Amino acid sequence: MSWSEFQKVLPQTAALSSTGALEVGGCDTIQLAHEFGTPLYVMDLADVRDRLRRYRDAFGPGNVFYGAKVFLTKGFAQIVAAEDVGMDCVAGGELYVALQGGFPAERIALHGNNKSEAELREALDAGVGRIVVDSVHELELLRALTDEMDVVARVLLRITPGVEAHTHDYLVTGVEDTKFGFTIGDVAMQAIEMAARSERLDLVGLHSHIGSQIFDLKPFDEAARKIVRFLAEARRTTNLELPEIDLGGGLGVSYLSGDEAGSIEDLAKIVHEAVASEAEAVGTDVPTVKVEPGRSVVGPAMLTLYTSGVVKDVPGARRYVAVDGGMSDNIRPALYQARYTFLSALRPDVPHDRACTIAGKLCETGDILARDVLLPDVEPGEILACAATGAYGYSMASNYNKQPRPAVVAVFGGEKHVLARRETYEDLVRLD
Ligand code: LLP
Repeated sequence: MSWSEFQKVLPQTAALSSTGALEVGGCDTIQLAHEFGTPLYVMDLADVRDRLRRYRDAFGPGNVFYGAKVFLTKGFAQIVAAEDVGMDCVAGGELYVALQGGFPAERIALHGNNKSEAELREALDAGVGRIVVDSVHELELLRALTDEMDVVARVLLRITPGVEAHTHDYLVTGVEDTKFGFTIGDVAMQAIEMAARSERLDLVGLHSHIGSQIFDLKPFDEAARKIVRFLAEARRTTNLELPEIDLGGGLGVSYLSGDEAGSIEDLAKIVHEAVASEAEAVGTDVPTVKVEPGRSVVGPAMLTLYTSGVVKDVPGARRYVAVDGGMSDNIRPALYQARYTFLSALRPDVPHDRACTIAGKLCETGDILARDVLLPDVEPGEILACAATGAYGYSMASNYNKQPRPAVVAVFGGEKHVLARRETYEDLVRLD
């Protein structure tokens, strides 16, 4: 692996520092590691902002809802708000953090396949812009609550279009046999009619999310067409305008230098064309297209710094390089067999030609962050970087083995902003 190969999976501002180390956002990562400790998540703010702006430009202001589940802190909510992008929250906790960060409620869409009455109340109280309804039960609950609270809720109905997204089984959501949403058919149409009849439910359209980490853009085209066809039917049945469709998130990102992820602009082109041509074919007005990107906003814009520890050679088998984190800060390799690129942050442009398996420090055989990656001859104490850890890394981090969760620092033009401080041992007992 060479420096130019690594650049394909590193944040946009990744460069070599004056000492030859990895630099991001004008900050030397070795200094960041010393200042904040490792493991450390580093966010390239310029890269994140660029991705938010590209989404906003490709889909239009008001049509992009960042998927908060991917990464959220109060400070990050402000960064998203400043780019004129909305937010998709999937639970009361995400809604709370977004609101605590000062995120405007009217730009929030609340999701969830099993929202509690309390969560729906919180959302209505806050005045969220949209609620994406997942079931008949929820529709009934929401109708009762809006009557009781005398408020109007703007809603979309989540539809599972029956499209196979060709990704990991755990990341598929658009097929019919899933816990999410309504299958296209009678029950969905009855729910649409029920919402249409409710005075305090303002049904504005349909929603679909087919899955995550999708490389092949064809399923987005298929899903968009199916949703438009069903939208046309719903418009005819209800006589409502139903002006919008939300096609969810799902755009894949490159974790390895050979990964070929589609671009934000490619995605926009494909879905806009599919929506326009299908609307014409079925004789209905072209709806506004909204999206909920997550992974492709923060995934490639962050990396994790670790310090190497034990280096163990198993003769005839492999070299293990253990690091000071593991499945507690990145569960994705263990959970989805996700693959990542590692490199030396100290000397990213020396030859990386020694096959290594990167082991975490958690007490599990399966706590392996990457198998057979290439590194230089690493000694204990070297700072290593794992690329593209922004999506679902910190969000899914845990305190397994009572490992304090790492800090998250955003870097921009040589400046550092701590988005989340490192947990301390005291934090580990604060709930006891
Ligand atoms: N909208 C909805 C309704 C979703 O369920 C999701 C993700 C998104 C948007 C954002 O999708 P994205 O653009 O990030 O693909 N933890 C897994 C991914 C779970 C995806 C959950 N839903 C992982 O680490 O790969």
